[in-house]
Amino acid sequence: MRALTVIPGQADSLSVRDVPDPAPGSGELLVEGLALGICGTDREIASAEYGWAPPGQEHLVLGHESLGRVREAPEGSGFAEGDLVVAVVRRPDPEPCGACARGRFDMCRNGGYTEHGIKQLDGFGSERWSVETDYAIRLDPSLERTGVLLEPTSVVAKAWEQVDLVGGRSWFEPRRVLVTGAGPIGLLAALIGAQRGLDVHVLDRVTDGPKPSLVADLGATYHSEPVSDVAEQLKPDVVIEATGAGQVVADALTATRGYGVTCLTGVSSAGRTLRFDAGAANREIVLENDVIVGSVNASVAHYRDAADVLRDADPAWLERLITRRLPLDRASEAFGPADHDIKTVIDLR
Ligand code: BGC
Repeated sequence: MRALTVIPGQADSLSVRDVPDPAPGSGELLVEGLALGICGTDREIASAEYGWAPPGQEHLVLGHESLGRVREAPEGSGFAEGDLVVAVVRRPDPEPCGACARGRFDMCRNGGYTEHGIKQLDGFGSERWSVETDYAIRLDPSLERTGVLLEPTSVVAKAWEQVDLVGGRSWFEPRRVLVTGAGPIGLLAALIGAQRGLDVHVLDRVTDGPKPSLVADLGATYHSEPVSDVAEQLKPDVVIEATGAGQVVADALTATRGYGVTCLTGVSSAGRTLRFDAGAANREIVLENDVIVGSVNASVAHYRDAADVLRDADPAWLERLITRRLPLDRASEAFGPADHDIKTVIDLR
């Protein structure tokens, strides 16, 4: 079967190659790949900045934003042929830390976790793949075209849970959220904010293309002025930062009103410095009981929450997040720039 592979650490090594068919073990599903979402992490792996092949292998099958259809399911597993499924990305450390041992591999403490398509486990960018039933999430059949958004939605569902947990240390009834960045993560964070009935604001530097109307169609407000100006005017209770861009992150740290929660979700590259008034930021965070929390990855419960979020969303709105669909043999185009791109998806059929 064909698969999208890369040699981690080697630039320009992305290729569609023949690889052996999966051989599902007992307790595993055999899945026909339908679609694969491409994100910044995949682009980093393709440009040799991140990623690890499975031990003893040169190539890594790329892809962690999966969507497939069950072809074979173990008897009594609760799954049946034809089910729409997404695979959970991360697996616990084989010698589990306390968090991994309790099913919270998304909070792994020793970095010994593995991740499909990213870290030491082949991904889901192939015509067929297998997954343990415990790590397969069944989706509503209506999500056949957009269920590939589940993995990024799970990341955002976790981010919102972190906001709730941090806010819950005292009285917390947030009303207004500012999301910085209108890429897939930012827009999905805004979707959850809208589903929660919050006053949602999204900031992005672009002023044209599909982003402003996607935000407006959530009943939210779009901004493209500097973060500090927008924050000053809005005084949000919650900020979800989804750009990972240095200046935006720095401004987001002090963008909330008192007792605010800023959740950082963007993975930035290191090496660029900027001027930052640490004293002023510290003073504001301390005097306002603000919290800055980082959030990555998602546990099984977050995937299930995310499946409900997608099921309840307007299917036409979700469809508009997917701005490009490419066949597997043109997958390399997904790694280059495209005007007004939000989410590029590779069609695996
Ligand atoms: C994925 C996460 C993963 C992270 C770090 C992100 O793109 O969505 O599941 O934990 O990269 O590898």
